[in-house]
Amino acid sequence: MKIKSTILILLIAVFLRTTLIGGEGMWIPMLLQQMNEKEMQEMGMKITAEDIYSINHSSLKDAILLFGRGCTSEIISKDGLLLTNHHCGFGNIQKHSTVEHDYLTDGFWAMNKSEELPNPGLTATLLIEMKKVTDSVLAGVDENMTMKERQIIIKDNIQRVTTNFEKESTYNAAIKPFFQGNAYYMMITEVFKDIRLVGAPPSNIGKFGGDTDNWMWPRHTGDFSLFRIYVDKDGNPAEYSEDNVPYQPKYYFTISLDGVEENDFTFVFGYPARTNEYLPSYAVEMITEIENPKKIELREKRLGIFNKYSSTYPKVRIQYATKDARVANYWKKMIGETGGVKRMKGIEAKQNFEKEFHDWAGSSGNNQYINLLLEFKRLYNDLTPINLATDYLMEAGMAIEIVKFANSYKKLIELSENDPKNDDAINKQIAQLKNQASEFFKDYYQPIDEEVMAVMLRLYDQNMSSEFKPEFFTAIHDKYNNNYLAYTDYVFSKSIFDKEDKLISFLNNYKPKKYKKLQNDPAYKMAYEMEALYKTKFETKRIVLNNAIDSLQRIYMKAQMEMKPDTRFYPDANFTLRVSYGKVNGYSPRDAVYYKHFTTLEGIMEKEDPDIYDYVVTDRLRELYNNKDYGTYADKDGTLHVGFAASNHTTGGNSGSPVLNAEGQLIGVNFDRCWEGTMSDLMYDPEVCRNISIDIRYFLFIVDKYAGAGYLLDEMNLIKN
Ligand code: ARG
Ligand code: GLU
Repeated sequence: MKIKSTILILLIAVFLRTTLIGGEGMWIPMLLQQMNEKEMQEMGMKITAEDIYSINHSSLKDAILLFGRGCTSEIISKDGLLLTNHHCGFGNIQKHSTVEHDYLTDGFWAMNKSEELPNPGLTATLLIEMKKVTDSVLAGVDENMTMKERQIIIKDNIQRVTTNFEKESTYNAAIKPFFQGNAYYMMITEVFKDIRLVGAPPSNIGKFGGDTDNWMWPRHTGDFSLFRIYVDKDGNPAEYSEDNVPYQPKYYFTISLDGVEENDFTFVFGYPARTNEYLPSYAVEMITEIENPKKIELREKRLGIFNKYSSTYPKVRIQYATKDARVANYWKKMIGETGGVKRMKGIEAKQNFEKEFHDWAGSSGNNQYINLLLEFKRLYNDLTPINLATDYLMEAGMAIEIVKFANSYKKLIELSENDPKNDDAINKQIAQLKNQASEFFKDYYQPIDEEVMAVMLRLYDQNMSSEFKPEFFTAIHDKYNNNYLAYTDYVFSKSIFDKEDKLISFLNNYKPKKYKKLQNDPAYKMAYEMEALYKTKFETKRIVLNNAIDSLQRIYMKAQMEMKPDTRFYPDANFTLRVSYGKVNGYSPRDAVYYKHFTTLEGIMEKEDPDIYDYVVTDRLRELYNNKDYGTYADKDGTLHVGFAASNHTTGGNSGSPVLNAEGQLIGVNFDRCWEGTMSDLMYDPEVCRNISIDIRYFLFIVDKYAGAGYLLDEMNLIKN
C-alpha cells in the first residue's frame, strides 16, 4: 500500500511538473511535433512545431547559431546582425580594447559597416539539419559485449557515418549521444568564420551588477553585444576578407515591442551545454554534499584574498577582474545548487524513487536492472575520494598562479631534453612562451599569489589523505615542519616564474642545455609532482570508474524509460540545439517574499552607487532616465522594462539564446538563472527555477537612445500591436 501511494504521488508529481506548470525539459527540435506541440499550444503558443524546426522550408532554427564554442546567438536582421550576451562577446571585445580605446569600459559602436571589427578565430555555427542515426551507430553492438568492445564499434561507426556524409557534402557533421547513449543524432552544420563586432554597451550597462548580482533575480544587467556574419560573394562561409559581404539569412527574428505579461507563454531556443537530470542519489550526494562544499571553501578563500587587495589597489582590481569573475561565477553557482537540492530534499526524493525502481526491477526479471543501484553505490563510493582529490589538484594546487604558469613550460623542457637540435620547434615554443608571459604578468600581482599559495597548501594538507598528496608535501612536513608560509617563501624566493625581467631575459637567451634550470625550479616541480601524482594514482582509476558509470547510466536511463512508459523524457543537455518552454513568471524565494516577473530602469537608479564599481550609472543613462526619454520602448505602464524572469529550463550555453513569445517573435535574450533555481542542472523545481532575460526593448533602447546607433534598427523587423 505504502509503495503504491508513493508511486501515485510520484506520478502526480511528474504529471504536474510536465503538464500543468510546464517549464522542465530541454526538448529535441525535430521531435517537437510528436512530443510537445500540443502542450505548447495549450499553454498559449500560436505557431506550430514546423514553424520552429523544419527541413522543408525556412523556420526559426535558421536564425539560431552556436556562438564561438560556448554561447548561443540569434540573427535579428536581413543583413546577418547577430545578437548575443555581453559576457559571450567579452573576450573579443577585450581583445580590441586598449588603454586609448577601452571598448570594454566605454562600449563600442560601429557607425557603419566599414567600422565593424573582425575577430579572427571566432565562429558561429548554424544547424542545417539533425538526423536520427541510432541504428547505424549501434550496428554490430550487442548487449553482452564488454564496454571496451562496445566503445570501439561505436567509435568506428560514428567515424564511418560522418566521413561518408562529409564526402558528399560541403557541410560538417557530428554525431552525439542522447539519453546516455541510448540514441544518437547527427548534427549537420555550417560554420561561419567571418564574424565582426558591431556594438557593445559599456561595462556598467553590459555587466551592471557584476558578480554581486550574478545568478540573481531581481536583475538589471544589459547583458548583450552585437556582431554581424559575413560570407563570400556567393553567400558561402569564408575566412575574413575585405571582399566579404553581409550574410543574407534564410530567416531572421521579428522583434516584438509589446513586452511581456505574467503567465505569457514563452520559449527559449538555444544550445544548453550540460545537465545531469537522471543521476542516482549517490551521484547527487557526491556532487552536492561532498565536492561542492570543498570547492566552495577553496574558492571562497581565494576570492577573499583577491578582494582584500582589489579593494585597496585599483590597478589590482582591473588585473584580477576576469580571474575573479571566473572563480566567482561557479563558486556562487555551486552554493546555489547545493542549497537548492537541500531545499527540494532532492537526495531523499531520489532515494524514494530508487526504492520504487528497485521493486520494479525485481519484478521486471531483467538481470541487468536488479543490481544496478548497488553497483552504482559501489562505483560512486570508489569515485568519490578520487574526484575529491582531483578537485584539490585543480582548485587548490592549480589555483597557485605561478604553478599553473610554470606548468606550460613542460613542452619546452621535453623538447630541449629529447630533441635539442630541433631549432624550429624550440624557437616556436619560446615565441609562444614570451607572448604568454607578457599576458601573464600584465594581470599578475605576486602578493596575492603568495597568500593564495600558503592558504591552499594548508587546506590541501588538512583535507587530503597522504596517498593523494603530491611529493612536495614531504618537504613541507619534514623540512618545514608544516610551516606553509615558510615553504611558500622558499618557492617564491627561488622560482623564476614570478620574476618577469629574469624570465624574459632567460627566454631571450635560451639554449636547450639550460632546460635543467626550468626543470629544477620549485614552482615547476610542484606542477610536475602534481601531474605525476595524477598520472600514477588516479588517472586510470578515474577513467575506468567513469566508463563503468557511463555504461551503467545508459542502462539506468533505458530502465527508467521502460518503468514509466507514460512519462515524456527529455535527454540531458549535450550542447545540441534544444527548445525549452514555460511561462513568464515571478516566484517566491522564501517565506513571505514574492519577486515580480520584471525589473525596470527604476531599479537601476535604486541600486546606483558611484562608489561601488558594480553599481556605477553613467550620466547619459541618468539623463535619459530623468527625462523619461524611453520613446517607443516604454512599457504600457510607462516605465522602461529591463529584464524579466520565466520558467524556461536553461543552463550554461543558453547564454545569448533568443527568448520568444507565443508568435515566435523575439522578446528577450537569455543570460542567467536565478540563484534559488541553480540546482536545475540536477533537478528542476517549477516553483523557483527561473531563467533571466534582458527585455528586448531595453536592448533597443540602449542601441537607439543611449548609443545613437539607431541606424541599426533600419535593417530589423520591429512590430508593435
Ligand atoms: N551567471 C551567468 C552565466 O554563467 C553570467 C556569467 C557572467 N560572468 C560573471 N562572472 N558575472 O554563466
Ligand atoms: N550565464 C550562463 C552562460 O554563460 C547561462 C546561465 C545558466 O547557466 O543558466 O551560459
